[in-house]
Amino acid sequence: MSATRACALSELQQDEAHRVEIDGVAIAVVLDSNGEVHAIGDVCTHGDVSLSEGFVDDDTLECWAHGSAFSLRTGRPLNLPAYEPVPVYAVTIDGDDVLIDPAVLKEL
Ligand code: FES
Repeated sequence: MSATRACALSELQQDEAHRVEIDGVAIAVVLDSNGEVHAIGDVCTHGDVSLSEGFVDDDTLECWAHGSAFSLRTGRPLNLPAYEPVPVYAVTIDGDDVLIDPAVLKEL
């Protein structure tokens, strides 16, 4: 499939995660403090909780449950207890539209 409109760029709050669901795939969309938009899998790999309810710090998203911080660039957790990465999706910005195809991972 092709990229789907996930949300509006203008509805993203800087340094906050916004949860979207595309084709049943939960994705955390984050506008970082540099104005860059990231999209990573929303489900923490340590437990079945939503990462978008966590905390953005620079280019990481920290799980609220036990504190693993996931890189928004690589999806890798930077500290335990999580040790498996979350997927990182390619993001296209078209005007005010944030487009994501959950079948297309970002090239790392
Ligand atoms: S559920 Fe995310 S670190 Fe434990």
